[in-house]
Amino acid sequence: MLEHLTEQPADKILMLMQAFRDDPRDTKIDLGVGVYKNADGVTPVMKAVKAAEKKIWEEQESKSYTSLAGEPLYIEGMIKLVLDGAVDRSRIGAVTTPGGTGAIRQAMELIKKTSPQATVWVSNPTWPNHVSILNYLGMRHTAYSYFNTETRDVDFDAMMSDLAGVKAGDLVLLHGCCHNPTGANLTLGQWKEVVALINEKGAVPFIDLAYQGFGDGLEADALATRLVAENVGECLIAASCSKNFGIYRERTGILMAIARDAATAKLSQGMLQFLNRQNYSFPPDHGARVVATILGDDALRQMWIDELEETRLSMLTLRQQLADELKRLTNSDRFDFIAKHRGMFSQIGTTPEKVEVMRAESGIYMVSDSRLNIAGLNATTVPLLAKAIVDAGV
Ligand code: LMR
Repeated sequence: MLEHLTEQPADKILMLMQAFRDDPRDTKIDLGVGVYKNADGVTPVMKAVKAAEKKIWEEQESKSYTSLAGEPLYIEGMIKLVLDGAVDRSRIGAVTTPGGTGAIRQAMELIKKTSPQATVWVSNPTWPNHVSILNYLGMRHTAYSYFNTETRDVDFDAMMSDLAGVKAGDLVLLHGCCHNPTGANLTLGQWKEVVALINEKGAVPFIDLAYQGFGDGLEADALATRLVAENVGECLIAASCSKNFGIYRERTGILMAIARDAATAKLSQGMLQFLNRQNYSFPPDHGARVVATILGDDALRQMWIDELEETRLSMLTLRQQLADELKRLTNSDRFDFIAKHRGMFSQIGTTPEKVEVMRAESGIYMVSDSRLNIAGLNATTVPLLAKAIVDAGV
């Protein structure tokens, strides 16, 4: 049986992770996978997470099953964190999922079940796993223009012109904030135009929110998602706690399905739970319980918000330092976009060949599409990266 298996395409982000581990150079710099690292190169356990884990360890009396949807306090906490009352609770179906990827996967399966003919529109470029999962499930998908590799900003005219081809019932996958991989984001005014177009076409928005708190702030990063949710009849939201709570390996996410009315929300709640049952039964609990504990305790919540804000500001500082150093070396402002981008990533807009030159000659690991993880830098490595970018002729 097993000999009939075929090799699967490698994920370019995970492949890079392994290549970095295998590189013996001690000067190597990891700007690949989207994991936050502090100035010492460590991905710390956040203080509030440690405190919540201690509390859980002391107080938890059973590890029996929760419900198919997961811990209710987690679900309510996350709905509040993401939507803050933008939509009446009775219209929201929601389940805990194993990470943001689990939420994306469950969302795709939901779409496949309810609208097998729908096309899912993804930005060009997007997180590669979006496309990979769509392919794996044999779902229709197409790309809409998003990034202008000259200006390194959103090509909004091209995006709107492509989205004009959306059909009723199609899904439009949008990154709620901190676009991955580009770092370029829509303004709120542009989001309003996208919502109007989606409504005009009778399409359904599907939001991937994996970096809330990493861009302009915890509340600011949720505004686009809330705007969409408030102004459409139906919407899917896949949110992740991996980055903003730093609990990557705990696999903590949530899928919300916003329905037109309470009766339909009940139906979709049932389907979301059914999908959980078919795929893994009960969702993982530990990360969700940690998040629920933090969100439900004023002191822990404030501790978490403060550390998250520190993390966000450190990435903004690194962005500015890199842009300044590149300005100094090139005597031009062509890299100013790095300071304007938001989130962990910036796509610097160069060829895979030049990315390879930087890896071979300077030990710099960025994804072949020229996405770099800003959080992989520190004050010492910023000038090294800037020099490598210039030396490679980017
Ligand atoms: C990334 O884009 O690097 C992260 O979302 C990690 C992953 O799973 O790809």
